[in-house]
Amino acid sequence: MRKPHSYLLCLILATVCCKTKSFFNPVIKEEHRPQFHFSPPAKWMNDPNGMVYLNGKYHLFYQHYPEGTKWGPMHWGHAVSKDMINWEHQPIALYPDSLGYIFSGSAVYDKDNTSGLGQGGKAPLIAIFTHHDPKGEKAGRKDFQNQSIAFSLDEGKTWKKYAGNPVLKNPGITDFRDPKVSWNGDVRKWIMTLATKDRITFFSSPNLKEWTKESEFGQNEGAHGGVWECPDLFPLILNGKKMWVLLVSINPGGPNKGSATQYFIGDFDGKTFKPLITETKWVDWGTDNYAGVTYSNIGERRIFQGWMSNWQYAESVPTVSWRSAMTLPRDLSLKEVNSSIHLASQPVPELKSILTEVNSLKDLTVSSSLDLSDKIKGYGSQYMLKFESDQLKDFSIVLSNDLGEELVLGYEKQSNQYFVDRSKSGKVDFEKGFGVKHSAPRILKTAGTDLTLIVDVASAELFADSGLNVMTEIFFPNKPFNRLSIRSTEGLQVKNMSLTRIKGIWK
Ligand code: FRU
Repeated sequence: MRKPHSYLLCLILATVCCKTKSFFNPVIKEEHRPQFHFSPPAKWMNDPNGMVYLNGKYHLFYQHYPEGTKWGPMHWGHAVSKDMINWEHQPIALYPDSLGYIFSGSAVYDKDNTSGLGQGGKAPLIAIFTHHDPKGEKAGRKDFQNQSIAFSLDEGKTWKKYAGNPVLKNPGITDFRDPKVSWNGDVRKWIMTLATKDRITFFSSPNLKEWTKESEFGQNEGAHGGVWECPDLFPLILNGKKMWVLLVSINPGGPNKGSATQYFIGDFDGKTFKPLITETKWVDWGTDNYAGVTYSNIGERRIFQGWMSNWQYAESVPTVSWRSAMTLPRDLSLKEVNSSIHLASQPVPELKSILTEVNSLKDLTVSSSLDLSDKIKGYGSQYMLKFESDQLKDFSIVLSNDLGEELVLGYEKQSNQYFVDRSKSGKVDFEKGFGVKHSAPRILKTAGTDLTLIVDVASAELFADSGLNVMTEIFFPNKPFNRLSIRSTEGLQVKNMSLTRIKGIWK
């Protein structure tokens, strides 16, 4: 029997635990656990879903299998945030049902109650997703993916599936999924952008319940090394002109193998998408940014977030209690470079809420190797490195530990490419193609560069040339990378450099 004083001890400990949750939160200490990127509390996660803003809160839903650390019957996990950086985990929003698993999709705020699913003057949040019927798939049917809706009248806390599901039936196409819906003010209709095997099909609806096919795009455009998935369509303004961006994820067939997201720029008249540029372009040349789409109901701003993994190895990465994280949210914009138009991404300014100590340096010459380890001392593999240079020369940024493991990122002048090399980055054997070097042709032609690198324990996000070249990669060192240096045999002149510690978000 326990003695009374041990009860007291337990009580005191329990009180301390509750008050300072982080002290005993085992999740924080897990090997490779991201500290400020969104990751599920436990088990499997893939695509971001239903990202929507409502009444001061951003909602992030995600593909989730709560029973295992590998892909399984899909649910929609849920989290909310005031700034897309600090997240509060919520109960699971959507569970599989008799129509199937809950695959990827989007959410909209139906402010005018076009769906009629609002009640008592309360407009609904509507989730539009793919019902994937595993039995139909097993039976060899072609129409096992159909589009359905669910609605919430309490700001996403609880959801009801619509009784008339599915709202868009499959005409016999094996890959018929991932509806991204937005309101098109020009034609005053909802537009659904749907991945349909090797192309995108656009549908329209006055009420989110009845859908009419408008057009198809892409059978002969862009990259086709794999199936098309998780599209998004949205306008962006360049030099006062509205242009439409169509994102299309593809798996496999990415520029550095596995899954990746391509984009098209063109015109959309509410019915048909007409591309202005036919060359294949990629949102991110790193291997770990997939199925990314943008938040809805946030006005002109376009904020993108992707799944920070790759189907090539997502199920075998060496993490134990959970799998994968999301990229940081990123602001998207269009930029013109030598009369071609490109999509640029930059981490959202909301990141400021977790930036703390800064070490700034000015007018440096990196001759052979510049050791910056003391500048990130105590940062715990969580930091942002920024620099600007007037002349772009060969350089390597080296993240390392005392086991001799390293992740190397940088630029090579001869090939005019940015790169990330994870060949010596620690655990790489779980997948043959993991420990290799990946490259991205530089887009900007000017002499100088600016660069932002964000490191969070097991991920690096490189934004070069104001976000024109982006590379996102994950890695798994056997000991944290607590050292940092920059090498440049050519002698890189750096005007300004800063190293900022980034706080963790776990509570
Ligand atoms: C993309 C994807 C989607 C699908 C979901 C299933 O990663 O394959 O096309 O809806 O994952 O989890």
